[in-house]
Amino acid sequence: MRTLFLLLVIVFASCKNDRKISEVKKPKLGVVVDSAMVVSARAEASRIGLNIMKEKGGNAFDAMIATEFALAVVFPYAGNLGGGGFMVYRTQYGEVGALDYREKAPMAATKDMYLDDNGNFISNKSKTGSLAVGVPGTVAGMFAVHERHGSLPMEEIIAPVIKLAAEGYYLTAAQAKRYNKYAPIFEEVNDSKSIYSNEWKENDLFVNTALAETFKRIAVNGRQEFYQGKTADILVNFLSSKKGIITKKDLSNYEAVWREPVIFNYKDLKIISMAPPSSGGICLAQILNAVEEFPIAAYGHNQPRSMQVIIEASRRAYADRSHFLGDPDFVEIPVDSLISPNYLKGRMQEFSFDQATTSTAISNGTPFGQESTETTHYSIVDSFGNAIAATTTLNAAFGSKVYSNELGFFFNNEMDDFSAKPGEPNMFGLIGGEANAIEPQKRMLSSMTPTIVEKNGEFWMSVGSPGGSQIITSVMQTILNVYEYDMTMQDAVNAPRFHHQWLPDEVMVENYGFDEDVLKTLTSKGYQINYNDAPVIGKVDAILRKPNGSLEGGADHRGDDTAVGF
Ligand code: DON
Repeated sequence: MRTLFLLLVIVFASCKNDRKISEVKKPKLGVVVDSAMVVSARAEASRIGLNIMKEKGGNAFDAMIATEFALAVVFPYAGNLGGGGFMVYRTQYGEVGALDYREKAPMAATKDMYLDDNGNFISNKSKTGSLAVGVPGTVAGMFAVHERHGSLPMEEIIAPVIKLAAEGYYLTAAQAKRYNKYAPIFEEVNDSKSIYSNEWKENDLFVNTALAETFKRIAVNGRQEFYQGKTADILVNFLSSKKGIITKKDLSNYEAVWREPVIFNYKDLKIISMAPPSSGGICLAQILNAVEEFPIAAYGHNQPRSMQVIIEASRRAYADRSHFLGDPDFVEIPVDSLISPNYLKGRMQEFSFDQATTSTAISNGTPFGQESTETTHYSIVDSFGNAIAATTTLNAAFGSKVYSNELGFFFNNEMDDFSAKPGEPNMFGLIGGEANAIEPQKRMLSSMTPTIVEKNGEFWMSVGSPGGSQIITSVMQTILNVYEYDMTMQDAVNAPRFHHQWLPDEVMVENYGFDEDVLKTLTSKGYQINYNDAPVIGKVDAILRKPNGSLEGGADHRGDDTAVGF
């Protein structure tokens, strides 16, 4: 008994040391500028986007294309040509819209493609190697943006990206470490060495000639180069040689789709976010609508009552996500009912401040009228008043790890975002149902939440994050931090975050900045606190328009993220 007691003391003490509870000492105010800004995961990409506006006179959409493509060069961890994403915009005239350039399941995909003969889920198959790859959407997405909103010629937008890939960029310490860590995995998956195989150090120049050549062909031949041209041939031959199932027909059939964004109010804010096939907008609306009923500013930031309300609203939203959401081209989603305040009020009826609701007690609700680990986000505002929020991904870090030496880029493993088998969690622990089952040509459900917020009818914030299932809760807390807790944009991004996603039934908290007593109070009410598995929750990049019209960037200190502007 005594030994057990001692053991518990030691375990408890070591946990306490691991927790490093301390205040985040970061600048209070982010970069502040007068008229235009780009905030992205890498300084080079932010600068290329900014120069398109500052030196070439382009708009936020031109800057978006340049930034997205530059991230494919300098941030291959998540930036991509072999993946997909979502974008939400608000123009200078107040028009809003959303673009879906999400990957699709190949035509030869089947519902059971990741199950063995006994119906067991072979989890690795949807995560690593060519069978995990969805049909990429990024190039189609950028050309769709250009066609509808671009103002500069595509060649001019792509030129600095080609230069960046051909002349190289200097590695940050984190990046060199990451390339070295993953290189053996790339070699194993691809059965060959690549430019990542060298021993990299901070400040080494990293050149990707093959990617520069791919971009040159795209600049000259346009969208069709990727979906029907030489690049398509190389891509299909390469993936087929690795037992992949993507065909030229899959590529030529691919289209990015303009969608109606999810729009809702939170108090006097109007929030415009991503519609299905992302769950982001709907879950964000569900959580914020439920939270709106409670005076969370009075409860205090990251205090027991405010955390309880947010946790319980999140628990219910993620339960609905799992049941109702999937590709709207394949399943009917009762969007209006799911985000109606009446439905959400009912969902919170069982909630009590005395005791945690258990996730087993919560399944999906019955909305009225029901008849019917890597990603990257960037935000851009131009001097004309256009704003965009875009999140793009390969899913896991470097996606499926499949890398074409000839094309110079990695392929996604987005197929893992489908629910491969009911009840089996994907890599983010998300459990899905029939609505998100694999079907040929279907888009897999996402959590990406690029979001634009208006206040008093004017642009107020552009925000988004990577983090898989944690994206939605990161975006939600960032908005609340500024709106309810009067934080600057940078402070709102820096503030420690927590997360609950229905299943597993636990509250993930970042490993710093939470008050020990607050967590104890939550534990006493039946909340399972997990501070070991989420050293980082989200990596938010955002722009806030201040009352005097200036723009403040929030670039997440959790990464190498950088805000630049003029
Ligand atoms: O679309 C999704 O929800 C996921 N594929 C996003 C992956 C992600 O954010 C990984 N980042 N840490």
